[in-house]
Amino acid sequence: MKPRRSILSVPGHVGKMHQKAHRSRADVIMLDLEDSVPLEAKDNARTAVVNALRTIDWKERVVTARINALDTPFGYRDLLVLAEEAGDRLDSVVIPKVDHCADIHFADKMLTGIEMAKGLANRIGLEAIIESARGLAGVDIIAGSSERLVTLVFGVADYSASIGARLASISGHGEKEEELYPGHRWNFAMSRLVMAAKANGLMAIDAPYGNFKDPEGLRRSAIMAGALGFDGKWAIHPEQLDTINTVFSPSPADIERARRVIEAYEEAQAAGRGAASVDGRMVDRATVRLAQQLWEQARHLKLV
Ligand code: GLV
Ligand code: MG
Repeated sequence: MKPRRSILSVPGHVGKMHQKAHRSRADVIMLDLEDSVPLEAKDNARTAVVNALRTIDWKERVVTARINALDTPFGYRDLLVLAEEAGDRLDSVVIPKVDHCADIHFADKMLTGIEMAKGLANRIGLEAIIESARGLAGVDIIAGSSERLVTLVFGVADYSASIGARLASISGHGEKEEELYPGHRWNFAMSRLVMAAKANGLMAIDAPYGNFKDPEGLRRSAIMAGALGFDGKWAIHPEQLDTINTVFSPSPADIERARRVIEAYEEAQAAGRGAASVDGRMVDRATVRLAQQLWEQARHLKLV
């Protein structure tokens, strides 16, 4: 699967930003029809996104589109129009406010019909944003509800609203956290989502850090997500991309250590020993698995 370290969310109604996004360093460009688009621009945004999908040469880049929630007057039409008119250019459709596996079943069946009707050679993926108490309560069932699913996304802003949590700023997790809660207050929700995603072979993606003038806060928030098992994070501004890409890529020191761990373990095995040591730390099967994962990721990103 292609890496999804950074996902640049671009408002669907602002055509010139689509061109600009195309030149950015994001692993994924997500054209948004939902919350970055004002109500009066919903129809224009849909047309502009189809136009961007059809006219920009996205090359190898992963391109997705976030539709409106399926219980709004816009969501069903977003799905229909995008898949019918630009389904051959879309890697996946991102569904917000997934509270129930029925949302995923509905989208899956619609896409199956459209792919058959249009004779599409590709299969359009699905990504589910978990951003309510109900969604998180059913996250295991949602995560296993369709072969099309590629990621689960943690939508911290809507999730906060859903549970009535007090926020320091809109989608600002990581920002002023210490004043609100001693510890990482999204630990449970985020770990819960990661567990469901990984148990079903999906990537876990973190929501954006809202304050794009606070690179240090963004870095902290991304590091925390990475430590909890997330594979990548949304960005709402191109200036956030370098930080996110760096945090979610193995560093040269990580890669070097992984190489030494794998080598030390292989040597220990050849000598009939179960464990080895590197830099005074024990290396066992679990350590090797971590090192192998990191090595694979580095290979994927062409860093080794
Ligand atoms: C993203 O959609 C969020 O609600 O944080
Ligand atoms: Mg949201």
